[in-house]
Amino acid sequence: MPTPLADLQERYRCASPRSRALFEQGRAYTAGAAKGAYYYPPHPLTMARGQGCFLWDVDGRRYVDCANHHTAQVLGHGNERVEAAVREQMQKGIALGAPTGIESEIAREMCDRVDTLERIRFVNSGTEATLHAIRLARGYTKHGKIAKFEGGYHGSHDAVEVSVAPPLDQAGPADAPVALPTAGGMSPSAASEAIILPYSDPEAVERIVAAHASELACVLFDPKAGVLDIQPDFARAVRDITRRHGVLLIFDEIVGFRTSIGGLQEVYDIDPDLSCFGKIIGGGFPVGAFGGRADLMDLFDNSQQSTGLFQSGTFSAHPVAMAAGLATLSELTPQTIDHLNALGARLKDQLNALFADRAISAQAVCTGSVFSIYFARGPIASYRALAATDKTLIQPLFLSLIEQGYFLGPGLGMCALSAPMDAEHIDGLVAAVGNALAEIA
Ligand SMILES: Cc1ncc(COP(=O)(O)O)c(C=O)c1O
Repeated sequence: MPTPLADLQERYRCASPRSRALFEQGRAYTAGAAKGAYYYPPHPLTMARGQGCFLWDVDGRRYVDCANHHTAQVLGHGNERVEAAVREQMQKGIALGAPTGIESEIAREMCDRVDTLERIRFVNSGTEATLHAIRLARGYTKHGKIAKFEGGYHGSHDAVEVSVAPPLDQAGPADAPVALPTAGGMSPSAASEAIILPYSDPEAVERIVAAHASELACVLFDPKAGVLDIQPDFARAVRDITRRHGVLLIFDEIVGFRTSIGGLQEVYDIDPDLSCFGKIIGGGFPVGAFGGRADLMDLFDNSQQSTGLFQSGTFSAHPVAMAAGLATLSELTPQTIDHLNALGARLKDQLNALFADRAISAQAVCTGSVFSIYFARGPIASYRALAATDKTLIQPLFLSLIEQGYFLGPGLGMCALSAPMDAEHIDGLVAAVGNALAEIA
C-alpha cells in the first residue's frame, strides 16, 4: 500500500506537469535549480505570477503565498505604491553610476526608525551585510575571531557558514559547541576563526565569551525570528554579556525587521553596536544593509582621511531597489505591522489549539508574522532542540498544503505572512493543516 507521502507525491506530479517540464528543461543548465533554495522534491513549482497574497503556478493553480519570497515580500505581490515607485525610478534611469538621492532618503528613513542606527551602508544581500559588518568589526578591534550561535544562519560567506546545521555526533557538548564548516569548499580557517555559542544558555555564553573576549571581533546574533523560540531575556543577556566583556554585538535583523517599526531590537529592548538588514528593505529587489554606531561606521567614510577600511559594490544602493524599499517602508506603518503581528498571533494560537485537540506532538513558533511548524513538544529554543524534532511529517504536510492551495516555505522552517492577508486566509490555512494531518498523521 502506498504511504501518504508517496500518494501525495504522485498527486503533486499529476497536478504540476508544466512545472515538471520546466524544471527538467532548466536543470540541464542550472545544476539542479537556479539556486539551492529553489529545489524541493519531487520537483519545484514554477510560478507564473503573483498578486496580493496569491501566487499562480504555470499549471494554472492558485496558492495563498505563505512563504513570500523567503519572507521578503511583506506587502505581498503587486503593491501599487511599490510598483509606482519602481516605474518612476526606472523612468529616471535604472543605474546611473552615481547617487540619485533615493539612497539618502531610505537611509534617513531607516535611521529614523531604528534607534541604534546612526549611519548605514547599502549592499545587495543579507550575506553581504553580515560580511561587511564583520569586516568592520575586525577592522575596528584588530581581532580576528568572531562568535556566532549554533544553528544561526547569517548568509553564505565563509565566516558565518560555520555550525549552521552541524551533525550532532560531531558538534560537541551542548554547552560548549564545536565549530564545524557547514558546506564543502570553505576555507579551512573559517571554522578555526569561529567561536560557537549555544542559544538560550546564558551561563555558557558568559563563560565562552569571557574566555575568548581578547580575540573576538564581535558576537553575531539573530534571535531567530520564526525559527527558534528564543526569549527576549536571553537576547538581553547576550547584550549584557558582550558589553561587560567589551565585545561588539552585531544584531542580525535580516528577517526580524518586519516585527516592529524599530526592528526586533526594539521589541527585545536591546541596543546592538551594529545591525544587519535585508529582505523587506528592498521591496522585493536584491538588497542588504548594515549600520549602527557612528564611530564604527565612520571608519568607512572615504570623504575623510583614509582609515584603510573601504566598502562598495557595483550594484550596492541600487536606485530601483532603494525606491522599492522606501515605498515598502512607507507602507509598513504601525497599523500594518500591528495587522501582520495579529495575523501571526492568530495563526499560532489556532495551530497550537489544533495540535492540542488532535494530541499531535507539534507546535507553531511565531515571531510577529514569521512562523515555523515543528513536530515536537517543549520549547524549540536552541539548535539542539530543533535538531531533535521529528522531520518525517514535514514533506507530506508541505505537499498536502500545496494541494489545498497554500504555498509554505519548503521544510516549513521559514514561512511568512503578508499585509494583504486577513483572518480568512489564516483560518483557511489552519483548516488545511487540520485536513493534512487527518491524512498523514
Ligand atoms: C537571519 C538571516 N541572515 C542572513 C541571511 C542572508 O540573506 P541573503 O539571503 O539576502 O544573503 C538570511 C537569509 O535567509 C537570514 O535568514
